[in-house]
Amino acid sequence: MNTVVMKRLGLRGKLLLAQLAVLFVACLVIAAVAIAVAAPLFHNHLMMAGIEDSNVRTHTEEAFAQTMTIALLCGIAVALVGAGIAAVYIVRRVTAPITMLAEAAQSVADGNFDVTIGRSDVDADFTRLETAFADMAARLDHSDRVRKRLLADLAHELRTPVSTLAAYVDGIEDGVVPTDPSSWSVMRDQLERLRRLSCDLADVSAADEHALELDRRTENLDDVVCSATAAAGPRFADRGVELTTALPPQPITAEVDRQRIEQILANLLENALRHTPTGGSVKVTLVREGDHLTVSVTDTGDGIPADQLESVFDRFHRGDRSDGSGLGLTIARSLALAHGGNLTARRNEQPLGSTLVLTVPMGLRQLP
Ligand SMILES: Nc1ncnc2c1ncn2[C@@H]1O[C@H](COP(=O)(O)OP(=O)(O)O)[C@@H](O)[C@H]1O
Ligand SMILES: [Mg+2]
Repeated sequence: MNTVVMKRLGLRGKLLLAQLAVLFVACLVIAAVAIAVAAPLFHNHLMMAGIEDSNVRTHTEEAFAQTMTIALLCGIAVALVGAGIAAVYIVRRVTAPITMLAEAAQSVADGNFDVTIGRSDVDADFTRLETAFADMAARLDHSDRVRKRLLADLAHELRTPVSTLAAYVDGIEDGVVPTDPSSWSVMRDQLERLRRLSCDLADVSAADEHALELDRRTENLDDVVCSATAAAGPRFADRGVELTTALPPQPITAEVDRQRIEQILANLLENALRHTPTGGSVKVTLVREGDHLTVSVTDTGDGIPADQLESVFDRFHRGDRSDGSGLGLTIARSLALAHGGNLTARRNEQPLGSTLVLTVPMGLRQLP
């Protein structure tokens, strides 16, 4: 058949045509075999019945041939109608989900990932295909949303420091803003904010690609906690917030990347300090729990709201008091996960405050 006509027919038309062709051939074969076999057989029976008169025999044979032709035609007609209805039903049932999947695939190819895939239950393999396609579309949709949100958040994050710097440079050029230490300090702060943002973004994207590089060695965790608290000590003293540590009697060693654990603790301490008022306290506790070690940072600050205990780990999630990028806890959790551990948040009521709990396995743990 002409290829243009075949293309126009579509899958449904082609399947239907194929079924009808098979049916037609089957009817032809049945008719041909019936005619070839029935006439000689009937003739034999007439001879065996002893009908000698050739006129009677011819008339009887003609009557038989006519009756058989009518019966065959009726049978073929009924078979064609019945089988045709069944073929249409089967073809529709098989092609409907394929058409739906093709439309969904086209929609995904056009960049619209929000597609709904129904379950046709035609066949187990086909159901697997539908499920896999629906999962793929959902993942693409999620990545697309995250990418869009990330770009929007990033643009928002860049806007403030860049416009502040632009305003200061213009002001200095026009002589409206004095070139005194306070102007340089504002500009330096904005540049520092941009620098921190670019470092944080590099870590976040490395975490997204599961490409956070860890240099794990056997470390004494008491030392790691002490250097993190020692580094933060002066800022706590400046703000009048007490910083204490509770270490186990025996030193604990674990296979960790020292700098990364210090990075996590520095972030937790910075957050705790920011949210704890003067006169408050922050306590860092290190304990061993089975094959894990746990470092908790507990503050007597305003406490993370109960409905934000998970979302504080989202990218760019920032509270009112924050002047950071909102990426600190995202990176800290990614680093904890890369170690095979975790980082979780808890709200305390008595006394009010938050506890951030970092768990890390003591030995090397294979990541999933
Ligand atoms: N100890 C804490 N007490 C109260 N809120 C906190 C604490 N730690 C984190 N948060 C909340 O979680 C948000 C996200 O923290 P983080 O990811 O480190 O970003 P950033 O510090 O840049 O704001 C903070 O803006 C703050 O609202
Ligand atoms: Mg932070």
